[in-house]
Amino acid sequence: MTVKKCLFPVAGLGTRFLPVTKELAKEMLPLVNRPIISYGVEEALASGCENIVMITGRAKHSIENYFDRSFELEDILKKRGKLELYYKMIHISEMADVIYIRQHEPLGLGHAVLCGEPVCKGEYFGVILPDDVFVGAEPVLSQLVKVHERLGGSVIALERVSDEDVSRYGIASGEEVEPGIFKLDGMVEKPKLADAPSHYAIMGRYVLSPEIVPLLHKQQAGAGGEIQLTDAIRELVKSEPVWGVVYQGRRFDCGTQKGWLSANIQLALEDEELRDVVIRIVTGK
Ligand code: UTP
Repeated sequence: MTVKKCLFPVAGLGTRFLPVTKELAKEMLPLVNRPIISYGVEEALASGCENIVMITGRAKHSIENYFDRSFELEDILKKRGKLELYYKMIHISEMADVIYIRQHEPLGLGHAVLCGEPVCKGEYFGVILPDDVFVGAEPVLSQLVKVHERLGGSVIALERVSDEDVSRYGIASGEEVEPGIFKLDGMVEKPKLADAPSHYAIMGRYVLSPEIVPLLHKQQAGAGGEIQLTDAIRELVKSEPVWGVVYQGRRFDCGTQKGWLSANIQLALEDEELRDVVIRIVTGK
């Protein structure tokens, strides 16, 4: 009942962050002292996952290079006696067992998940959308894995959003069976407030049943445009339990400039050395 593999769909175009993302993977933008993608990978590892599966696309080579050895750099650091940095670089390449699968066309999140089929076949797997960075005591994926281990089935992260934000997200419907845990019976993609079944929005963390794969295949057969993960999960709830868990923690959407900037400020405020710098700039003192 544990979750050993975690999928990272990172093949999106990142249009909300243009022109930066014209040539740069948004997942490689820095959050204080390491790239955004590193936070997601650390979360997966801390949640018990052993294999990281990146679904990549054009202009994402830098992610592969980041998690790989860099012999030239390591050699120079060693020769110059910068051993702390040298071991830090080695650690990055050894921290995770990463597999890369290319999504040839950005045909949607559902299609990206389907690209992971050769590796995740037949078992429950995690999905992390690394744009959503969570700050808090317990990793959000770990919160979902615990519910999966206790209740079985698929689990998705939920956040209660305001009236204005309902139309920006996939919104879940279902019955609250325990405080903060819903048994889902459906979901609507970006509804008008009047049509929304709840205020609980689906955020970028999932534990998914292997049964999601045939449902995504079915969509692929009929779909003209993007293949939506939400559509397949809406089908999945008809045959298997899907739980929605209101996560504990604070989320930053680092796929937008505002969210990315906010996350940097928050994380810098939590850093002993950087805290004073931020306060000095903000207060002008
Ligand atoms: P987003 O909706 O954030 O799209 O995708 P995006 O392209 O990354 O960014 P914008 O909206 O254009 O600014 C949600 C997640 O799904 C992945 C993205 O990389 C992101 O992690 N994704 C999306 C894929 O891997 N493939 C796709 O075809 C679409």
